[in-house]
Amino acid sequence: MQYKAPRGTQDILPGDSKRWQWLERTFRDVCSVYGYQEIRTPAFEITELFHRGLGEQTEVVTKQMYTFEDHGGRSLTLKPEGTAPAIRAYLEHSLGGQGRVTRLYYITPIFRYERPQAGRYRQAHQTGVELIGSAAPEADAEVIDLTIRWYRALGIEQLSLKVNSLGMAECRERYRAALLEFARPILSDMKEDERARYERNPLRLLDTKDPDLQQRLLDSPTLEPFLEEDSREHFDRLRALLDALGIRYEVDARLVRGLDYYTRTVFEVQSDALGAQNSLCGGGRYDNLVEEMGGPPTPATGVAMGMERALLAASAAGSLPPPEATADVFVVILTPGEAGERLLSELRSGGIRALSDPDRRSAKSQFRQADKSGAPFAVTLGEDEITRKIVRAKRLKTGEETEVPLAELPAWLFERLGKK
Ligand code: HAM
Repeated sequence: MQYKAPRGTQDILPGDSKRWQWLERTFRDVCSVYGYQEIRTPAFEITELFHRGLGEQTEVVTKQMYTFEDHGGRSLTLKPEGTAPAIRAYLEHSLGGQGRVTRLYYITPIFRYERPQAGRYRQAHQTGVELIGSAAPEADAEVIDLTIRWYRALGIEQLSLKVNSLGMAECRERYRAALLEFARPILSDMKEDERARYERNPLRLLDTKDPDLQQRLLDSPTLEPFLEEDSREHFDRLRALLDALGIRYEVDARLVRGLDYYTRTVFEVQSDALGAQNSLCGGGRYDNLVEEMGGPPTPATGVAMGMERALLAASAAGSLPPPEATADVFVVILTPGEAGERLLSELRSGGIRALSDPDRRSAKSQFRQADKSGAPFAVTLGEDEITRKIVRAKRLKTGEETEVPLAELPAWLFERLGKK
């Protein structure tokens, strides 16, 4: 029996893991210039947290969660997103405080039972930030600015930022009623899934993927005329801030997002490079979630970015970093004894990436391995070299060979490798 990774999951192999490290490093660097600090939360949480946090009726909760009972009879769920866990930890460890703004970032796997396709997985990975404790549109603008900066740092320039305002609960309630009224006559023509959306969360009808329904909803009312005065001002100010930051965006009155916790600002960055799963990231303001989870009223805003999708977009943009050699030098050891071990240890202590053949096969085989390793240099150590306290250093690309005194080898390599 040969085992395979479960459907919708991927192994990240050694060649690819460099790219993931690049994504993570770039994200950490961007977060640090905005003063965000890392939080790591468990892979699973009490199921109730997500029911409460994301909304009982959301598709993520009704259809996509990996929920199981542990041996103690508790219902646990692999996290389908990072916001509810971050807020749970924020409250549990009292990270906030009156008038204080808390900035958190995370890099996390997420688990959703979805139909796998390019850009959509059952275990996916997100980078994300949460800015907790500010109701200002400046906070939303900061999160959007950070998001765009990360994509730019990855060389992803072909972006389309969509923004919308969902207002607060009260205006949404009135809008919901208007939308239900509009959609009622076409209810009998809807597919089962869409009908369920109508009943559970009619706003989600607006982001239906069904082209017929899209067409029939073209004239549906938009939320904008229902917005409260405060929400309208908030949205106007956010747009002015994005203009000031030189960030291009489009107002998309149909952008609603799939999780229930959003209030006012919602946004997504889309990329044509991604095909059907065109959403690079999604985020927005969630002013009621902290209170909903038992904390004091605390406004917050944030975003999460799909890492697999960021890699797909960087690949389409041709901006992935080139593969790098994993070693600086291959030490060809032709003699038994400890001299080879000592040399390897000395090189590594000096920060030089040194490889060798643990089986000490023939010179020919070791040179073949040296070539394959991609290391720019091979150094040979045999009886003769040990007696004379030298090594023969070869630049593998050109074949040029030099004798280097053993004691000088680290410095000699450092200079030629351009290391500091
Ligand atoms: P979300 O829109 O559900 O929002 O996910 C954000 C991003 O995660 C998506 O735009 C996509 O790039 C990626 N993603 C989600 N599911 C999958 C999947 N199955 N396969 C591949 N990529 C996926 C959230 O998760 C919110 N917590 C965002 C947020 C943070 N809002 C406020 N703060």
